[in-house]
Amino acid sequence: MFSYNAPEGLLNDRIILVTGAGDGIGRAAAHAYAAHGATVILLGRTLEKLERVYDELEAAGYPQPAIAPLNLETAVEHDYIELANQLEETFGRLDGILHNAGLLGVLTSIENYDPIIWQQVMQVNVNAPFLLTQTLLPLLHRSQDASIIFTSSGVGRKGRAHWGAYAVSKFATEGMTQVLADELENISQVRINCINPGATRTAMRAFAYPAEMPEKNPTPEQIMPLYLYLMGPDSAQVNGQSLDAQGDGHA
Ligand SMILES: NC(=O)c1ccc[n+]([C@@H]2O[C@H](COP(=O)([O-])OP(=O)(O)OC[C@H]3O[C@@H](n4cnc5c(N)ncnc54)[C@H](OP(=O)(O)O)[C@@H]3O)[C@@H](O)[C@H]2O)c1
Repeated sequence: MFSYNAPEGLLNDRIILVTGAGDGIGRAAAHAYAAHGATVILLGRTLEKLERVYDELEAAGYPQPAIAPLNLETAVEHDYIELANQLEETFGRLDGILHNAGLLGVLTSIENYDPIIWQQVMQVNVNAPFLLTQTLLPLLHRSQDASIIFTSSGVGRKGRAHWGAYAVSKFATEGMTQVLADELENISQVRINCINPGATRTAMRAFAYPAEMPEKNPTPEQIMPLYLYLMGPDSAQVNGQSLDAQGDGHA
């Protein structure tokens, strides 16, 4: 596991948007960020799940979160502009985005891959993070120390048979991280990095590996050290990296 002990109040006064915040790793990240002082904007497609997380954060006494319901598969440019306007009005700036929402699609050969599902996966995993980042960059530029985190996967670094659009989308995510990091290096205080969570006990993992014992893998809460490190000021000099949440790296 990536080793980092986040100090109390690490993210005090930061405004952080988490996509796919209603479940799995995104929900754990929303908790971890809020527990360290951040005001978290919970973005996702299932309102009831977002409301549940909202209630959990409120009950814990963390800074009051906000909810941004958005289906990343169907959202169009106008929806992103509206979101940016709302965030500007409410918060005036943004200190971080965790691009976590993801779609697995189907596990089958490229030869047999349904083109519609291919497009859905690329839309949620690649096009939506691009649109969201582009629209929200002006708000991130207003921060003293902003961090964008994309979410990759092992199959985004080495292709594997039958992982189709999901694997290809994660290669694209690694590429987007590098291109954007290179563009903003030296001209902006916004840094861009990428996390490979590794096998983690969530609904997506269970769907991909139905025969696996869930207990074999760590919970989303256990992989949070890297999520905290990359979002907070201790990683201010880290840019363009793709790191493993379950790797043996140290901060
Ligand atoms: N778990 C692993 O072993 C593993 C390994 C490598 C990489 N990852 C990556 O880690 C990230 C989180 O995965 P997870 O395991 O936590 O998966 P998960 O439990 O399936 O959660 C995925 C999240 O993405 C949201 N989402 C999916 N489609 C969406 C859409 N169209 N619009 C808005 N939100 C949408 C889901 O919302 P709903 O709950 O409303 O459906 C959910 O909150 C993904 O990017 C995944 O590729 C996971």
